[in-house]
Amino acid sequence: MNPFNKFKNWFNLAKKDKSIDPTAFALGTVLNNSPNIRMVLLKYIKPGGFIFFTNLNSLKGRSFQKNPNLSMCFYWESINRQVRINGKGKLVSEKDSDNYFSKRPRGSQIGAWASNQSSEIPNSSYLKKKNFIL
Ligand SMILES: Cc1cc2nc3c(=O)[nH]c(=O)nc-3n(C[C@H](O)[C@H](O)[C@H](O)COP(=O)(O)O)c2cc1C
Repeated sequence: MNPFNKFKNWFNLAKKDKSIDPTAFALGTVLNNSPNIRMVLLKYIKPGGFIFFTNLNSLKGRSFQKNPNLSMCFYWESINRQVRINGKGKLVSEKDSDNYFSKRPRGSQIGAWASNQSSEIPNSSYLKKKNFIL
């Protein structure tokens, strides 16, 4: 069976378990030969591609721009399955990215504007300068 169809079959079965988010997967990137993984959410499946969104300035974004090899791993306990997907990532179009952003809740949009994903917060005065109240 076409692996995309197989994925969709299992994904639909996994969705029946309401106690988990079946879209969550571990995303692996490589920077200077060092692997890094973190959880990300799958937003869409398009023919030939699994789409997620992130900040390009994050560690994963910076890693991807230097080395496009990505690895994804889903685990769905209720159906006793894991799916691993390896390949070269591609950026979605600016239009798709803007479209996704415009549909995010207002609080998430503000969070994305305000935060530098993956960078350390040096101290509390940094946040005060950015008008976050501690
Ligand atoms: C369940 C879950 C889902 C997440 N989904 C996303 C996501 O879709 N996009 C994203 O950029 N970060 C997401 N995160 C946060 C990332 O795991 C990570 O902490 C952040 O993106 C910074 O990663 P980096 O420093 O490796 O780039 C999620 C975290 C969790 C626990």
